Amino acid sequence: MSRNIYLNNTEELIKYINEDLQNESLIILDSALEQFKLHSNLNASHVYLKVSEETKNLETVEKIWEIMFSSNLNRSHEIVIIGGGVMLDLCSFAASTFKRGISYTLVPSTLLAMVDASHGGKNGFNNDYGKNQIGTFNLPKGVIVCFELLNTLKEKDYKDGLIELVKHGLIGSKEIFDKLISAEDFKIETEVIKKGIQIKEDIVKEDYLETGKRKYLNFGHTIGHLIEQDSKFTVSHGEAVAIGMIYELGLSKKHFGLPQEVIDLYISYLEKLDYKKSYEFENSIDYLLGILKDDKKSKSDSVDIVLLSDVSQPNLICISFDELIEVIKN
Ligand SMILES: NC(=O)c1ccc[n+]([C@@H]2O[C@H](COP(=O)([O-])OP(=O)(O)OC[C@H]3O[C@@H](n4cnc5c(N)ncnc54)[C@H](O)[C@@H]3O)[C@@H](O)[C@H]2O)c1
Repeated sequence: MSRNIYLNNTEELIKYINEDLQNESLIILDSALEQFKLHSNLNASHVYLKVSEETKNLETVEKIWEIMFSSNLNRSHEIVIIGGGVMLDLCSFAASTFKRGISYTLVPSTLLAMVDASHGGKNGFNNDYGKNQIGTFNLPKGVIVCFELLNTLKEKDYKDGLIELVKHGLIGSKEIFDKLISAEDFKIETEVIKKGIQIKEDIVKEDYLETGKRKYLNFGHTIGHLIEQDSKFTVSHGEAVAIGMIYELGLSKKHFGLPQEVIDLYISYLEKLDYKKSYEFENSIDYLLGILKDDKKSKSDSVDIVLLSDVSQPNLICISFDELIEVIKN
């Protein structure tokens, strides 16, 4: 597993990059971070990039490769990637494939990227066949979590991160689940973030290539991805997974007797965040079936899905496309 470094502020981050990552030849930053003016104190050359879920595609990967070529990078060089989940997924893929792979360090700058996207070595981008359909498994050299970067996040983006964190709680930690749902304010302590990261890393350590246990991390994502794509990404990843988890908690009750109380607690948490609890699918059943067939966890007419018997008690089962379609259309 990659090394995790925890830092409180951007002064410590700049010092760490300048002093401890001296081989780093290029730093790629999410354009949302210009306000921190990190670049004026960084020794290595830097470039800002504007990316989004809509541009998480091959064209943007080609732009990143172009930046790497024009910076004369070779495999003795290393890069630092600072940004949200979209930026990390795109640049990690570009770094992993550039000249057969150069070493990289990740600095997640959103809550979602801190607790999820920066750990476990998955990268990739979207194409006409769906979300993250092209990508590799390749671990970064290290992950630097700098908590001050969260201060400028829009409330909505922060809440999207809380959704992945509550998912970590649901699949692996009653303590995280209880802490989140009982918090007065939705801002969370750094200790909860660190615990969330631990849940993900423990799972990945046991099943790096996602042949079994790592699929637990996809809880809420099978239906979440359907929502994201049906909405043409007007519904964000966090909002889509939040609603996906409601459906998948319902299926958990049906298949594994998940107590209704857990569903009620989760729904009241979404209400506290002011998140939507339902979604009206716009596209035809054939369109949705097409997306399901392209899901990386699908077989010919069924999909591996994670359902819970209780908080922190996940199970992996295969359910038919017909059952899923029936659930989301009713
Ligand atoms: N590789 C993995 O294992 C993994 C896991 C979970 C999610 N993901 C991917 O992560 C993506 C979602 O990531 P996300 O929620 O971070 O979205 P995002 O990367 O789109 O970031 C959300 C917004 O916040 C801005 N931003 C970033 N840092 C900021 C900061 N410090 N202050 C202010 N604004 C800032 C970004 O520019 C963007 O507009 C999805 O594409 C998903 O597929 C990957």
